[in-house]
Amino acid sequence: MNRHGMGTARTRVISITSGKGGVGKTSIVSNLALQLAKEGKRVLILDGDLGMANVDIMFGVRPQYTIHDIIKGEVEINEVLTEVARNVYLIPGGSGVFALQNMSVFEKQTLLDQVSALGTGFDVMLIDTAPGIDDNVLYLNSAAQEICVIVTPEPASIADSYALIKVLNQRCKETRFSIICNEVKDEADGAKLFAKLDGVAQKFLYVSLDHVGSIPSDPVLRQSTRAQQLVCKTNPDAESSRAILKLAHKFRGYEPAHECKGGLQFFWEQLVRLA
Ligand SMILES: Nc1ncnc2c1ncn2[C@@H]1O[C@H](COP(=O)(O)OP(=O)(O)OP(=O)(O)O)[C@@H](O)[C@H]1O
Ligand SMILES: [Mg+2]
Repeated sequence: MNRHGMGTARTRVISITSGKGGVGKTSIVSNLALQLAKEGKRVLILDGDLGMANVDIMFGVRPQYTIHDIIKGEVEINEVLTEVARNVYLIPGGSGVFALQNMSVFEKQTLLDQVSALGTGFDVMLIDTAPGIDDNVLYLNSAAQEICVIVTPEPASIADSYALIKVLNQRCKETRFSIICNEVKDEADGAKLFAKLDGVAQKFLYVSLDHVGSIPSDPVLRQSTRAQQLVCKTNPDAESSRAILKLAHKFRGYEPAHECKGGLQFFWEQLVRLA
Protein backbone atom coordinates (compact mmCIF):
# COMPACT_ATOMS: atom_id res chain seq x y z
CA MET A 1 0.00 0.00 0.00
CA ASN A 2 1.32 3.46 -0.76
CA ARG A 3 0.68 6.68 1.10
CA HIS A 4 -2.55 7.25 -0.78
CA GLY A 5 -3.91 3.90 0.23
CA MET A 6 -3.75 2.37 -3.23
CA GLY A 7 -2.27 -1.01 -3.81
CA THR A 8 -0.44 -0.30 -7.07
CA ALA A 9 3.10 1.02 -7.23
CA ARG A 10 3.51 4.75 -7.19
CA THR A 11 4.24 6.70 -10.33
CA ARG A 12 7.78 7.95 -10.39
CA VAL A 13 7.77 11.68 -11.23
CA ILE A 14 10.89 13.02 -12.94
CA SER A 15 11.35 16.58 -14.17
CA ILE A 16 13.70 17.16 -17.10
CA THR A 17 14.97 20.71 -16.81
CA SER A 18 17.82 23.07 -17.67
CA GLY A 19 19.27 26.45 -16.91
CA LYS A 20 19.92 27.32 -20.54
CA GLY A 21 17.49 26.77 -23.42
CA GLY A 22 18.04 24.48 -26.38
CA VAL A 23 20.11 21.85 -24.58
CA GLY A 24 17.91 18.89 -25.55
CA LYS A 25 15.17 18.61 -22.90
CA THR A 26 12.29 18.01 -25.29
CA SER A 27 14.32 15.59 -27.42
CA ILE A 28 15.36 13.64 -24.33
CA VAL A 29 11.87 13.56 -22.78
CA SER A 30 10.27 12.31 -25.99
CA ASN A 31 12.89 9.71 -26.85
CA LEU A 32 13.28 8.54 -23.27
CA ALA A 33 9.52 8.07 -23.04
CA LEU A 34 9.60 5.86 -26.14
CA GLN A 35 12.46 3.77 -24.79
CA LEU A 36 10.80 3.35 -21.40
CA ALA A 37 7.59 2.27 -23.12
CA LYS A 38 9.57 -0.28 -25.14
CA GLU A 39 10.80 -1.64 -21.81
CA GLY A 40 7.19 -2.24 -20.84
CA LYS A 41 6.57 0.91 -18.81
CA ARG A 42 3.46 3.06 -19.05
CA VAL A 43 4.69 6.61 -19.43
CA LEU A 44 2.95 9.93 -18.94
CA ILE A 45 4.53 13.12 -20.30
CA LEU A 46 3.54 16.48 -18.90
CA ASP A 47 4.53 19.24 -21.28
CA GLY A 48 5.44 21.73 -18.59
CA ASP A 49 6.85 24.30 -20.99
CA LEU A 50 3.56 26.08 -20.45
CA GLY A 51 4.36 29.04 -22.70
CA MET A 52 5.97 27.28 -25.68
CA ALA A 53 5.02 23.65 -25.46
CA ASN A 54 6.32 21.41 -28.22
CA VAL A 55 6.40 17.78 -27.15
CA ASP A 56 3.36 17.32 -29.41
CA ILE A 57 5.43 18.41 -32.40
CA MET A 58 8.08 15.80 -31.60
CA PHE A 59 5.40 13.11 -31.75
CA GLY A 60 3.74 14.64 -34.80
CA VAL A 61 0.36 15.19 -33.16
CA ARG A 62 -1.79 18.32 -32.94
CA PRO A 63 -3.78 18.07 -29.74
CA GLN A 64 -7.13 19.77 -29.60
CA TYR A 65 -6.94 20.54 -25.89
CA THR A 66 -4.19 21.40 -23.43
CA ILE A 67 -3.66 21.59 -19.70
CA HIS A 68 -5.05 25.15 -19.87
CA ASP A 69 -8.46 23.73 -20.80
CA ILE A 70 -8.36 21.42 -17.79
CA ILE A 71 -7.54 24.28 -15.44
CA LYS A 72 -10.33 26.42 -16.87
CA GLY A 73 -12.67 23.54 -16.14
CA GLU A 74 -13.75 23.29 -19.76
CA VAL A 75 -12.83 19.71 -20.53
CA GLU A 76 -12.21 16.46 -18.70
CA ILE A 77 -8.70 15.17 -18.34
CA ASN A 78 -9.49 12.11 -20.43
CA GLU A 79 -10.23 14.35 -23.41
CA VAL A 80 -6.91 16.13 -22.97
CA LEU A 81 -4.77 13.05 -22.48
CA THR A 82 -3.33 12.12 -25.89
CA GLU A 83 -1.81 8.74 -26.68
CA VAL A 84 1.24 9.72 -28.72
CA ALA A 85 2.81 6.27 -28.99
CA ARG A 86 2.05 2.85 -27.59
CA ASN A 87 2.01 3.26 -23.79
CA VAL A 88 3.08 6.91 -24.01
CA TYR A 89 0.49 9.50 -23.02
CA LEU A 90 0.83 13.27 -23.20
CA ILE A 91 -0.77 16.11 -21.28
CA PRO A 92 -0.15 18.92 -23.80
CA GLY A 93 1.10 22.24 -22.47
CA GLY A 94 -0.31 24.72 -24.98
CA SER A 95 1.08 28.16 -25.64
CA GLY A 96 0.72 31.72 -24.49
CA VAL A 97 1.44 33.51 -21.24
CA PHE A 98 0.60 31.35 -18.28
CA ALA A 99 1.73 31.56 -14.68
CA LEU A 100 0.88 28.78 -12.25
CA GLN A 101 0.83 31.29 -9.42
CA ASN A 102 -2.04 33.15 -11.08
CA MET A 103 -4.34 30.15 -10.76
CA SER A 104 -7.40 30.88 -8.66
CA VAL A 105 -8.42 28.62 -5.77
CA PHE A 106 -11.17 27.29 -8.01
CA GLU A 107 -8.75 26.53 -10.85
CA LYS A 108 -6.35 24.78 -8.49
CA GLN A 109 -9.14 22.61 -7.14
CA THR A 110 -10.34 21.84 -10.67
CA LEU A 111 -6.84 20.75 -11.63
CA LEU A 112 -6.56 18.49 -8.59
CA ASP A 113 -10.00 16.96 -9.11
CA GLN A 114 -9.23 16.26 -12.74
CA VAL A 115 -5.78 14.76 -12.28
CA SER A 116 -6.99 12.50 -9.50
CA ALA A 117 -9.05 10.80 -12.21
CA LEU A 118 -5.80 9.80 -13.93
CA GLY A 119 -5.44 6.97 -11.48
CA THR A 120 -2.30 5.02 -10.79
CA GLY A 121 -1.81 3.27 -14.11
CA PHE A 122 1.46 5.02 -14.94
CA ASP A 123 4.94 3.87 -14.00
CA VAL A 124 6.68 7.12 -14.82
CA MET A 125 5.75 10.73 -15.45
CA LEU A 126 8.33 12.82 -17.30
CA ILE A 127 7.96 16.59 -17.13
CA ASP A 128 9.47 18.72 -19.88
CA THR A 129 10.04 22.15 -18.31
CA ALA A 130 10.88 25.51 -19.83
CA PRO A 131 14.51 26.55 -19.36
CA GLY A 132 15.62 28.99 -16.68
CA ILE A 133 14.54 29.95 -13.20
CA ASP A 134 11.01 31.28 -13.72
CA ASP A 135 8.50 30.45 -11.00
CA ASN A 136 6.72 27.87 -13.20
CA VAL A 137 10.01 26.02 -13.63
CA LEU A 138 10.82 26.12 -9.93
CA TYR A 139 7.34 24.87 -8.95
CA LEU A 140 7.36 21.98 -11.42
CA ASN A 141 10.84 20.91 -10.34
CA SER A 142 10.12 21.28 -6.69
CA ALA A 143 6.94 19.22 -6.90
CA ALA A 144 8.70 16.41 -8.80
CA GLN A 145 10.24 13.48 -7.00
CA GLU A 146 13.43 13.67 -8.95
CA ILE A 147 15.02 16.66 -10.70
CA CYS A 148 17.10 15.85 -13.75
CA VAL A 149 19.20 18.72 -15.10
CA ILE A 150 20.40 18.58 -18.71
CA VAL A 151 23.79 20.18 -19.29
CA THR A 152 25.94 20.52 -22.42
CA PRO A 153 29.66 21.35 -22.67
CA GLU A 154 28.94 24.97 -23.62
CA PRO A 155 30.22 27.30 -20.88
CA ALA A 156 26.86 29.11 -20.79
CA SER A 157 25.05 25.81 -20.17
CA ILE A 158 27.38 24.90 -17.30
CA ALA A 159 26.99 28.35 -15.72
CA ASP A 160 23.20 28.32 -16.11
CA SER A 161 22.92 24.75 -14.75
CA TYR A 162 24.80 25.87 -11.69
CA ALA A 163 22.51 28.91 -11.34
CA LEU A 164 19.38 26.72 -11.56
CA ILE A 165 20.72 24.23 -9.01
CA LYS A 166 21.63 27.10 -6.71
CA VAL A 167 18.16 28.67 -6.86
CA LEU A 168 16.44 25.30 -6.38
CA ASN A 169 18.66 24.67 -3.41
CA GLN A 170 18.35 28.05 -1.78
CA ARG A 171 14.72 28.85 -2.52
CA CYS A 172 13.17 25.38 -2.65
CA LYS A 173 15.55 23.49 -0.32
CA GLU A 174 16.29 20.86 -2.98
CA THR A 175 19.50 18.96 -2.28
CA ARG A 176 19.64 16.07 -4.76
CA PHE A 177 19.97 16.45 -8.51
CA SER A 178 20.37 13.96 -11.32
CA ILE A 179 22.53 15.17 -14.20
CA ILE A 180 22.45 14.15 -17.88
CA CYS A 181 25.35 15.41 -20.01
CA ASN A 182 24.08 16.00 -23.55
CA GLU A 183 25.89 16.74 -26.81
CA VAL A 184 29.22 15.37 -25.55
CA LYS A 185 31.94 13.77 -27.72
CA ASP A 186 32.07 10.46 -25.83
CA GLU A 187 31.69 8.90 -22.38
CA ALA A 188 34.97 10.43 -21.16
CA ASP A 189 33.88 13.88 -22.33
CA GLY A 190 30.59 13.39 -20.46
CA ALA A 191 32.39 12.36 -17.28
CA LYS A 192 34.61 15.42 -17.58
CA LEU A 193 31.59 17.71 -18.01
CA PHE A 194 29.89 16.18 -14.99
CA ALA A 195 33.05 16.60 -12.91
CA LYS A 196 33.22 20.26 -13.87
CA LEU A 197 29.63 20.99 -12.79
CA ASP A 198 29.94 18.82 -9.69
CA GLY A 199 33.18 20.57 -8.75
CA VAL A 200 31.59 24.02 -8.72
CA ALA A 201 28.47 22.75 -6.93
CA GLN A 202 30.51 21.01 -4.22
CA LYS A 203 32.60 24.08 -3.70
CA PHE A 204 29.75 26.52 -3.12
CA LEU A 205 26.58 24.57 -2.25
CA TYR A 206 25.43 21.72 0.00
CA VAL A 207 23.98 19.56 -2.75
CA SER A 208 24.56 16.09 -4.12
CA LEU A 209 24.72 15.53 -7.87
CA ASP A 210 24.35 12.12 -9.51
CA HIS A 211 25.60 11.53 -13.07
CA VAL A 212 22.84 9.46 -14.70
CA GLY A 213 24.49 9.28 -18.10
CA SER A 214 25.66 11.07 -21.23
CA ILE A 215 24.32 11.43 -24.77
CA PRO A 216 26.72 12.08 -27.65
CA SER A 217 26.25 14.92 -30.08
CA ASP A 218 24.69 13.01 -32.94
CA PRO A 219 23.85 14.38 -36.40
CA VAL A 220 21.31 11.57 -36.78
CA LEU A 221 19.34 12.94 -33.81
CA ARG A 222 19.54 16.48 -35.16
CA GLN A 223 18.32 15.34 -38.57
CA SER A 224 15.46 13.34 -37.08
CA THR A 225 14.29 16.36 -35.11
CA ARG A 226 14.37 18.46 -38.26
CA ALA A 227 12.24 15.85 -40.00
CA GLN A 228 9.86 15.83 -37.01
CA GLN A 229 10.80 12.31 -36.14
CA LEU A 230 12.06 10.57 -33.05
CA VAL A 231 15.53 9.15 -33.46
CA CYS A 232 14.83 6.22 -31.12
CA LYS A 233 12.02 5.16 -33.44
CA THR A 234 13.56 5.79 -36.85
CA ASN A 235 17.20 4.96 -36.00
CA PRO A 236 17.30 2.71 -32.94
CA ASP A 237 20.94 1.86 -33.66
CA ALA A 238 22.14 5.46 -33.77
CA GLU A 239 24.64 6.42 -31.09
CA SER A 240 22.18 8.79 -29.44
CA SER A 241 19.39 6.18 -29.43
CA ARG A 242 21.66 3.67 -27.73
CA ALA A 243 22.69 6.25 -25.13
CA ILE A 244 19.05 7.10 -24.41
CA LEU A 245 18.22 3.39 -24.10
CA LYS A 246 20.97 3.14 -21.49
CA LEU A 247 19.37 6.05 -19.63
CA ALA A 248 16.03 4.27 -19.74
CA HIS A 249 17.63 1.19 -18.18
CA LYS A 250 19.04 3.36 -15.41
CA PHE A 251 15.71 5.02 -14.74
CA ARG A 252 13.98 1.67 -14.81
CA GLY A 253 16.41 -0.03 -12.51
CA TYR A 254 16.95 2.49 -9.82
CA GLU A 255 14.57 3.31 -7.01
CA PRO A 256 14.96 6.78 -5.54
CA ALA A 257 16.43 6.75 -2.04
CA HIS A 258 14.05 9.40 -0.83
CA GLU A 259 10.56 7.99 -0.60
CA CYS A 260 9.04 11.13 0.87
CA LYS A 261 8.08 12.89 -2.37
CA GLY A 262 6.57 10.13 -4.49
CA GLY A 263 3.42 9.59 -6.46
CA LEU A 264 1.38 11.33 -9.09
CA GLN A 265 -1.26 12.72 -6.75
CA PHE A 266 1.44 13.99 -4.43
CA PHE A 267 3.05 15.85 -7.35
CA TRP A 268 -0.14 17.72 -8.25
CA GLU A 269 -0.92 18.54 -4.64
CA GLN A 270 2.57 19.94 -4.16
CA LEU A 271 2.33 21.91 -7.39
CA VAL A 272 -0.84 23.77 -6.47
CA ARG A 273 0.36 24.23 -2.91
CA LEU A 274 3.61 25.84 -4.11
CA ALA A 275 1.96 28.07 -6.72
N1 LIG B 1 22.55 14.77 -28.55
C1 LIG B 1 22.23 15.61 -29.54
N2 LIG B 1 22.89 15.57 -30.73
C2 LIG B 1 22.58 16.40 -31.73
N3 LIG B 1 21.63 17.34 -31.66
C3 LIG B 1 20.93 17.45 -30.51
C4 LIG B 1 21.19 16.59 -29.39
N4 LIG B 1 20.33 16.93 -28.40
C5 LIG B 1 19.58 17.95 -28.87
N5 LIG B 1 19.93 18.27 -30.14
C6 LIG B 1 19.35 19.31 -30.99
O1 LIG B 1 19.34 20.53 -30.26
C7 LIG B 1 18.19 21.29 -30.57
C8 LIG B 1 17.45 21.66 -29.29
O2 LIG B 1 16.88 20.49 -28.73
P1 LIG B 1 15.55 20.52 -27.87
O3 LIG B 1 14.48 21.28 -28.55
O4 LIG B 1 15.27 19.12 -27.45
O5 LIG B 1 16.09 21.38 -26.62
P2 LIG B 1 15.25 22.01 -25.43
O6 LIG B 1 16.16 22.00 -24.26
O7 LIG B 1 13.95 21.32 -25.29
O8 LIG B 1 15.02 23.50 -25.95
P3 LIG B 1 14.08 24.63 -25.27
O9 LIG B 1 14.84 25.08 -24.06
O10 LIG B 1 13.98 25.67 -26.33
O11 LIG B 1 12.78 23.97 -24.91
C9 LIG B 1 17.36 20.47 -31.54
O12 LIG B 1 17.63 20.90 -32.85
C10 LIG B 1 17.88 19.05 -31.33
O13 LIG B 1 17.75 18.27 -32.49
MG1 LIG C 1 11.99 22.16 -25.23
